[in-house]
Amino acid sequence: IPVEPFDLVIFGGTGDLARRKILPGLYRRFCSGQMGEDSRVIGAARAEMDAEGYRQFVREAIDEFDAGRTCEVGTIDAFLKRLDYVTVDALGKDGWPDLAKLMGEGTGRVRAYYFSVAPSLFGALAERLHTYGIADEDARIVVEKPFGRDEASACALNGVLAEHFDESQIYRIDHYLGKETVQNLMAVRFGNMLFEPLWNSQYVDHIQITVAETVGVGGRGEYYDKSGAMRDMMQNHLMQLLCLIAMEPPAKFDPDAVRDEKLKVIRALDEVEPRDIVRGQYEAEGDKPDYRTHVENPESTTESFIAMKVHLSNWRWAGTPFYLRTGKRLRARTSEIAVVFKETPHSIFGPEAGRHRNILTIRLQPNEGMDLGVTIKEPGPGGMRLVDVPLDMTFADALGPDAEDVPDAYERLIMDVIRGNQTLFMRGDEVEAAWAWTDPIIAGWEKRGDKPEPYESGSSGPEDALALMHRDGRRWREIR
Ligand code: BG6
Repeated sequence: IPVEPFDLVIFGGTGDLARRKILPGLYRRFCSGQMGEDSRVIGAARAEMDAEGYRQFVREAIDEFDAGRTCEVGTIDAFLKRLDYVTVDALGKDGWPDLAKLMGEGTGRVRAYYFSVAPSLFGALAERLHTYGIADEDARIVVEKPFGRDEASACALNGVLAEHFDESQIYRIDHYLGKETVQNLMAVRFGNMLFEPLWNSQYVDHIQITVAETVGVGGRGEYYDKSGAMRDMMQNHLMQLLCLIAMEPPAKFDPDAVRDEKLKVIRALDEVEPRDIVRGQYEAEGDKPDYRTHVENPESTTESFIAMKVHLSNWRWAGTPFYLRTGKRLRARTSEIAVVFKETPHSIFGPEAGRHRNILTIRLQPNEGMDLGVTIKEPGPGGMRLVDVPLDMTFADALGPDAEDVPDAYERLIMDVIRGNQTLFMRGDEVEAAWAWTDPIIAGWEKRGDKPEPYESGSSGPEDALALMHRDGRRWREIR
């Protein structure tokens, strides 16, 4: 379904995110007919360039990151015609009148401004959009993570944006919320009768959330070394997954109803004991350098892996631990959530049949789908022996080609901005609450001078992370 005509200005329009995700994503939406021929995308950055130069830049980005797509609407040229460019100095006056003139040509369309720039520029951009009269009360701004690096800086950023924009105009991206299977979590939980009655500490032994990556920190060493896995992944992506898996059913699927429930989850999180956290740093593997060499900081104590056990103090979840882990350079790229149910209270088949439990696994990526481990009789004449088998549903098999052509997270989220739907974006208070929970944990290990434990690249992380579970008589699911 096509969205309304829009003008999207991308500040940082020549940056890495624009090149890799935003522009190829818009091209895909254009190809699918969702972005109409009357919409415009305007790159805005410091680089001296004209519209033709920008079109060439975007053509190359699409060739590199979205080669070979067949476009129903026309050739790539039809999309490139929708592009324009202005050279703008975020902190000065240069270029702003040109941008204002360009925007003046687009009255009556949805206006969205994507701040794909350092957070230190958010305030200046917000202010100038108003000074130059190009952001009315219907305009939207889109901001990226990292949204602050602690509660104080996140509050300050929220304050700066709030001077010029209402919360209903601010779209804070956590791209995990745009992933198809992440949204499916809500569909599975609240669209079925089967799971919700069992979704509590009476039936659920524990929940595991794993986001494992095989890549290292790549060319982002400078940023990453100041963040680590806690700030880069745990405070946002894993926290959002935890919220969706643990929240109460919202009364309706609307932005504030959903975000109110997520916020309650964050606020119900207990403080985490130091013994319930394991941090790691990857070692070298063949010609691939170790973490410290990678970030060019031989003394670095930043973690590229973190595992932790957390508890929620509320009626639904008291007593059920959540084990979360994420890291780089691990054995496989896999993200999944496993809901591990309790054992049956009593076995009518006697001790030799063993005790069994059901595990519902939601695979977020790759091979999106879910499986439910159920216990059945082992075939054959050998008596009543039990065995666990998966009821497996891979979405691509079940849904056919439709499941393969799902929009990438950025595509979906940008279209939601144009539609004015904030459900999949983080509200200011959510981000602040997530930092409020994260801050004392980081302060604790900084104060104690904790060092991360080295782990082998291509492994499942540090030994202590395994011990974190073994201690409780439980086991991580294999990363594969
Ligand atoms: C980003 C992090 O937000 O998410 C990266 O900054 C990480 O460090 C990435 O690699 C993972 O995203 P995805 O979509 O590849 O799972």
